[in-house]
Amino acid sequence: MKDFSREEIDHILDTAERLEPVARGEEKLKLLDGKIIALLFFEPSTRTRMSFEAAVQRLGGKILNLGSVEASSVMKGENLADTIRVISNYADLIVLRHPLDGSARMAAEFSSVPIINGGDGSVNHPTQTFLDLYTIRRESHLEGLKIALAGDLKYGRTVHSLCYALSLYEAEMIFVSPPELRMPPEIVRDLQKRNINVKETDSLEKIIGDVEVLYMTRVQRERFPDPEEYEKVKNRLKVTGDLLRNVNPNLKILHPLPRVNEISPEVDSTPYACYFEQAFYGVPTRMALLALATGVIE
Ligand code: CP
Repeated sequence: MKDFSREEIDHILDTAERLEPVARGEEKLKLLDGKIIALLFFEPSTRTRMSFEAAVQRLGGKILNLGSVEASSVMKGENLADTIRVISNYADLIVLRHPLDGSARMAAEFSSVPIINGGDGSVNHPTQTFLDLYTIRRESHLEGLKIALAGDLKYGRTVHSLCYALSLYEAEMIFVSPPELRMPPEIVRDLQKRNINVKETDSLEKIIGDVEVLYMTRVQRERFPDPEEYEKVKNRLKVTGDLLRNVNPNLKILHPLPRVNEISPEVDSTPYACYFEQAFYGVPTRMALLALATGVIE
């Protein structure tokens, strides 16, 4: 996300807005007719993989899916660079999710077609950020937003990408996490260099009345080197009906999903819950990214 200007982000969000009726199946627009989009997912995914598939299909393109890593030649020891070199000759664009930090940037160096990062390690998840920004713009507002980013701020790649983008809109950010899972200091320093003052706390109760958006995240069990450390922090922060008694009536609660225990199901039926709409907005935003990256629109 550090590569994008505010104008570029706004252009992508405007494009997604134009494509939303297509994402809902209300209009037809076969922008990707004749294009092949390869999906390479080396980590589990439901939303990113399936919303990319939905986006391609709604726009009339075709999917080339690596499928499960176990059924591919990765199991014979093929490295990522060779896999990318080969698949970039089969497709017009590659969407990559990979457990290694920096894998998407590395893949871009070996690919003859555009790479979209569908999540690399614990570092970035930029397409999630575009759908998060789209959700916030649609359901609340971006400029000067008061937002709390809560949960696993250490390993959660969605919050890392999101806070860089929000800094372009002069958002007021509060980071809420157990002390063990604080936002990496280099990100806090980067934000301070951008003149963004961030507050940090370990208590949702202290800040919930002051924010317009609560962006909740799960504790990323799979990224903990020590399972005992995960057990200590896994249930430290939770959004419940009680927590929401005295909140801003326009509060929106977002979550990239999947959730584990950090939002109780009773919250789903409140007017604050926005996470299932948010998951839908992945389709128009990924349509916009695919159409722009393949060059079928400008
Ligand atoms: N939000 C998100 O990336 O979900 P998936 O892991 O299911 O793709």
